[in-house]
Amino acid sequence: MFAFARGSPLSFGVRNTQSQDQKVQNEYYIASDPLAFSQWVEQMCHLSDNQILHICQGPDTDSYDLYDMSLSKIQVKLEQNSLSDQFVNKGSFAHFMLKEINEQPRAILDTLAHVMSLIDQRKESLDQFFNKARETQLNLIACGTSYHACLVAKYFFEKYARISTTAELASEFLYRSPVLKGNYCFVSQSGETRDTIAAHDMVSNQYQTMAIVNVPTSQLARKANIVLTTQAGPEIGVASTKAFTSQLVVYLALCMSQISDAQTKNSFKQQLTIAATTVGEYLQFHTTEIQQLAQHLSKYKSMTYLGRGASFPIALEGALKLKEICYIHAEGYAAGELKHGPIALIDEQMPVVVFVSEENLEKIMSNVQEVLARNGKCIVVLNSACRELFDESYSSKASRINSQMESPILDQLQKLSFLVTPKVGEVGDLFFQSVVLQMLAYYTALELGVDVDQPRNLAKCVTVE
Ligand code: M6R
Repeated sequence: MFAFARGSPLSFGVRNTQSQDQKVQNEYYIASDPLAFSQWVEQMCHLSDNQILHICQGPDTDSYDLYDMSLSKIQVKLEQNSLSDQFVNKGSFAHFMLKEINEQPRAILDTLAHVMSLIDQRKESLDQFFNKARETQLNLIACGTSYHACLVAKYFFEKYARISTTAELASEFLYRSPVLKGNYCFVSQSGETRDTIAAHDMVSNQYQTMAIVNVPTSQLARKANIVLTTQAGPEIGVASTKAFTSQLVVYLALCMSQISDAQTKNSFKQQLTIAATTVGEYLQFHTTEIQQLAQHLSKYKSMTYLGRGASFPIALEGALKLKEICYIHAEGYAAGELKHGPIALIDEQMPVVVFVSEENLEKIMSNVQEVLARNGKCIVVLNSACRELFDESYSSKASRINSQMESPILDQLQKLSFLVTPKVGEVGDLFFQSVVLQMLAYYTALELGVDVDQPRNLAKCVTVE
């Protein structure tokens, strides 16, 4: 058998077995993701581009050789399989996605501890990277959910670290002849996404690159100058969940390391710690109300997600999740854009999920009013402090709008429903919003009977353009 690597990931695994006649015979595995065979093999390696593996096995022969393009032999450098203890199963969960949603408390805490210690250990190189970026520009590049993490990061790097930041889709960056400047950070759960790697390769000769990946052995991790790994553990469900919140942790911790004001820095740290330690409790006690809302949402054909500031990318992520695993058409908008077009779509058939941040409560609440006034139905995700303020300012209107708004079990979606999260702050609230959007999508998909872990037309890792 021949295996030829070019452009896409290819891993090779070896298992030594003994046949009945005590003859040692190897089993060989080839896959684009080593997790596919990690439970069986003792040793593995990743093939580089343009390498050819020749496996030869027969009654009297059992060998493997690696060649370059001119067919000169290359030494195969097998490494001990470090993934074997990461063999993944669903445990008591119905789906990997649900398991991974519930693993977030652990993933967030582990990632926070890991990145904080890396920030200490690599202070010099990280400061160098960000100082350069501060002089010119910080460019964050990714695809899909990882791109949404970049959009959140852009908001914080500009607002608090005062670093001019761009966030870009790798597939667009590649083909729009961008003016290159500053430093580049590439984010990818898999570290194997074709567009993200190609974008990395486009700048890596001239510019310093950083990679934030969840798979430490991935191509992107092997290529970048500085590598930071999220500690989410293997993510199997096609819909990215714990990798997203872990990426947020890395970004927010990096941003924190670049903030000069001690008080703001401290508040960042506190909020990250509080979110990490309390998100598990939220998951435990709020599943039922989200499930009840999901029952209603599964009956709609289209939905809108709104957010402002750092919650705008959360709205984009909410819409992506719904499309991806529920096959319901959904759009995420910056709430301020509503009146510039999307408001024309609003009617009783268009539920609107609104992510509220305390910083722009008043503005986003007026968006809620705009939706309600057009017979739309709103699910408002807000922290407990905003909920109180909402009651003070709008309770009379709200009760007119929806006299039964506190009782979620109705046979149809109410005009106004609330999902209340703990008040942590601008940074910490994002983790609860993320968990809410994931659970809403998960339980809606469950209602619809979609194969949550392997939705149609999608692959976990997109290794083609
Ligand atoms: O592995 P990556 O983070 O590079 O993957 C990027 C996207 O393909 C990925 O986030 C995709 O959008 C997810 N399926 C979303 O849930």
